[in-house]
Amino acid sequence: MDLGLKGRRALVLGASRGLGRAIAAALAAEGAALALASRNRDALTALAAELSARHGVSAHAMVADVADQTRMKVLAEEAVLRLGGIDILVLNHGGPPIGPAVELSVDALQEQFARMVVAPIQLAMRLLPGMRDRRWGRILTVGSSGMIQPLPNMVLSNTLRGAIVGWNKTLANEVAAEGVTCNILAPGAIETDRLRETAGFEANRKGTTIEDVLAKRAATIPAGRLGRPEEFGAVAAFLASDHAAYITGSIVRVDGGLIRCT
Ligand SMILES: NC(=O)c1ccc[n+]([C@@H]2O[C@H](COP(=O)([O-])OP(=O)(O)OC[C@H]3O[C@@H](n4cnc5c(N)ncnc54)[C@H](OP(=O)(O)O)[C@@H]3O)[C@@H](O)[C@H]2O)c1
Repeated sequence: MDLGLKGRRALVLGASRGLGRAIAAALAAEGAALALASRNRDALTALAAELSARHGVSAHAMVADVADQTRMKVLAEEAVLRLGGIDILVLNHGGPPIGPAVELSVDALQEQFARMVVAPIQLAMRLLPGMRDRRWGRILTVGSSGMIQPLPNMVLSNTLRGAIVGWNKTLANEVAAEGVTCNILAPGAIETDRLRETAGFEANRKGTTIEDVLAKRAATIPAGRLGRPEEFGAVAAFLASDHAAYITGSIVRVDGGLIRCT
């Protein structure tokens, strides 16, 4: 199936590793031009070279940290300058510190609010006018299964991603008639550095190994295994495509059945 992404221009945040990288690779394979952003310049530069050599697309590395509000403000303009406009925005970043609600620090809550809520929304607000003018746009946010079924020891993630759910749905309804869709991808347990980090936290608390925690997690997933990043990237590319023009305001699960509710 041709996803119709040839010539579309995407800014992917958190693109150097894990789910963001998989999304960037899936979009490049469909012919989209890319602005790749995160903190690690070397990793982004190598990825840009790899994707452009493999798929013949234009790909640019852009250093940006969601903790740096000033940098985030100029990232949108820089991406537009490089690619001539942004049609697809992928909002993604690292996961917040892990811990239970009874140990939540207000300082951490405020710090992560700026990174996980303010920074992505600020970026979207800067790129939305161009999408509305062109009457075509895709805003994809990488979220978590915790948006539907809160996860233990993930109070920051569960709390702040709830704000993103509300923002995404509100915006989606306002721009739905203008050809701009806004959707959230909710990963369950996909094999990335972050998954190992969360498994490491649990392993420490239980006095066991990361491998043991991951094997037990996989056994609780109806699919019987962890997810692969490329499976996640493929769903993102579909949601970015013309074929997904009638899907908006949704939280799309990529979880092998991990979330138990309907
Ligand atoms: N993997 C899963 O199963 C899973 C499940 C639920 C939720 N999630 C959530 O999905 C998101 C992506 O997860 P992942 O598994 O791909 O994580 P990951 O493997 O740790 O990758 C995180 C990505 O975000 C970038 N990043 C980290 N801190 C950043 C910052 N301050 N500013 C800009 N970019 C930053 C990293 O690049 P640099 O280091 O180069 O900055 C990297 O590209 C996270 O929010 C995670 O909590 C993942």
